[in-house]
Amino acid sequence: MPELSDVTRGRILYGGDYNPEQWPRSVWREDVRLMREARVTTATVGVFSWARLEPRPGARDFGWLDEVLDLLHEGGIEVCLATPTASPPPWMGARHPETLPRDESGATVWYGARNQFCASSPIYCEYALRITEDLAERYGGHPAVRMWHVGNEYGTHCWCDTTARHFRRWLRTRYGGLDALNEAWGTAFWSQRYDSWEEIIPPRRAQYLVNPTQALDFRRFTSDALLECFTTERDVLADRTPHAPVTTNFMPLFIGQDGWAWAAEEDVVSVDVYPDPKDPHAAAYGAMVQDLTRSQAGGPWVLMEQAAGPVNWRGVNHPKPPGLMRLWSLQAVARGADVVCFFQWRQSRQGSEKFHSGMVPHAGEHSRTFQQVRGLGAELRRLGGVVGRGVPAGAAILHDWHAWWATVQDGRPSARLDYPQVVRAWHRALWEQNLTTDFAHPHADLTDYALVAVPQLYLLTDEALDNLVGYVRGGGTLVCGFFTGVADEDDRVRPGGVDQRLRDLLGIRTVHEWWPLDEGETVTAHGPSWPAGFTATLWSEDLEPSTAETVARIKGGELDGGPAITRNRHGAGTAWYVSTLPEPAALRALPARAADEAGLRPPLPGLPEGVEAVFRGEHLFLLNHGRTPAVVPLPSARTDLLTGRVYDTEVGLDRSAAVVLAPLDSPHPKGAAPCTERLESSS
Ligand code: GLA
Repeated sequence: MPELSDVTRGRILYGGDYNPEQWPRSVWREDVRLMREARVTTATVGVFSWARLEPRPGARDFGWLDEVLDLLHEGGIEVCLATPTASPPPWMGARHPETLPRDESGATVWYGARNQFCASSPIYCEYALRITEDLAERYGGHPAVRMWHVGNEYGTHCWCDTTARHFRRWLRTRYGGLDALNEAWGTAFWSQRYDSWEEIIPPRRAQYLVNPTQALDFRRFTSDALLECFTTERDVLADRTPHAPVTTNFMPLFIGQDGWAWAAEEDVVSVDVYPDPKDPHAAAYGAMVQDLTRSQAGGPWVLMEQAAGPVNWRGVNHPKPPGLMRLWSLQAVARGADVVCFFQWRQSRQGSEKFHSGMVPHAGEHSRTFQQVRGLGAELRRLGGVVGRGVPAGAAILHDWHAWWATVQDGRPSARLDYPQVVRAWHRALWEQNLTTDFAHPHADLTDYALVAVPQLYLLTDEALDNLVGYVRGGGTLVCGFFTGVADEDDRVRPGGVDQRLRDLLGIRTVHEWWPLDEGETVTAHGPSWPAGFTATLWSEDLEPSTAETVARIKGGELDGGPAITRNRHGAGTAWYVSTLPEPAALRALPARAADEAGLRPPLPGLPEGVEAVFRGEHLFLLNHGRTPAVVPLPSARTDLLTGRVYDTEVGLDRSAAVVLAPLDSPHPKGAAPCTERLESSS
């Protein structure tokens, strides 16, 4: 199977989405000139070109793309060629309205924007397949084309009749017979028993709460149906161009796709990351998405999209202050990205994204943004030595889309429970301690991790529960968050409310009640590690420990005196339970203490607040996300790959500054690893 390393070949790739069909020919030459100036290695071409490539059903207009690819190739720019199937042309919806999605109420989702396709539509699939075949046929051997980008941010939903038939086929495969389905869905409740397959529909708009397992299965099905669209195109590409890896770009921590299942079907894993420059915790958010993507990839990954400046889809869209684009790009490289790309190369003058930044903004090549884009391109060329290197992580966060899907059902204890918010809070707690963290599926082999955190997994399979028990028995340290291990994979509540295996592991006899907290409602808790006490939000529980010691106790309120945080020795390991969402400082202290006990330490002692330190191979990235300059003490002298400067005992970092420090005996301490690309020799 082709891999990312076949494309990177010792370079950090750099570039962005390139949409030449929005521009006259004269601009194309200008684009290549500027790309060369910016040291762009790679352009992603054709993501939204379907109507241009196939102006009417079956017609082909490839001439312009021939020209664009040749121009890019002459300029030494490689191409990640897209299949344009995210945005079908208007003719498809007009001629074949059955390809258009229907929402839960049966209303048509029209063309005129993008993504208007039903993943189950055989007509859509047929057209998508044909254009993919023709692109592979025509450009598979083009010397510029190195990688495939299939579709774009798969995430559509459809509740139409075609989808209903497809859903039934999927359910037959999952359950075999109707009895098994009725049992799994608990249809004895509210007279929901199905007597024939034809009666089954997607969870459409209904009078009251729809069956939660039906809704859960529909999310599973939708992810699989979209994945089928992807794999159908991928198979064509793999067959015609076995040398070129295939990817599709994920949205960050996105609910619509089972990211573990999808990543397993890709040669290369890519993601789009758009932290809000105004968000004080944007760097932690970026790190979380990057850690998740690296874990999905099992190695280096592609930052397919980020913004050079503001986006256009927030209420207020903030530009990036000087240095931030560079800092966040280097953060991605630190956490395993071998490709740093943007949406998009040249800012559009028309259409819905004309106020979304580009690498070449409206203000042109003399703009501050383009100058920074140029600077970054030059710097990334010096990081050849980190390409392909791993990011050692001693901790893992367990994450599972099926558990997330089950958590968002209606009719649960609290509609305020927000799974991504909880995962973010826990990851941030580890990130602020500079404990590099992987994400892992609950069934994954955890033995190499000193610390495993489960922020909140409502649904855990038997296999996952046994995995957790085995991990702790074998000496692991588990830190487990609230409302975990409650349901089985059919969303059936486990006997006792929380699975017995988990309760034994945690040393908890009974969870008497879940006690969710309303907006503005808090609990306070105290313990030896939190002598001043801490407040907590979102959730609390009425717990009765068995063997666990209580390390933080609730003070005041309905649960006065009850445990907030417990710790239990089990086998050779330790299991902590956190029955609420402690405020950030308290949450930070928790994995810090657990990690310390587990022998897990940050890469450097005494790091100033706001400085992120992460190893990629033997290269130490230091990134100052704080608002003020910082000084980082170094245990031994190192060289900054970006500047060649040697630091003996400490590194001073201005606001938004970053260094990439190699040991002095590194093979390429003074600059780039050897780089044989054409751009290099011709520049
Ligand atoms: C997504 C899409 C792009 C573009 C950007 C804007 O990531 O993939 O086509 O719309 O958002 O931020």
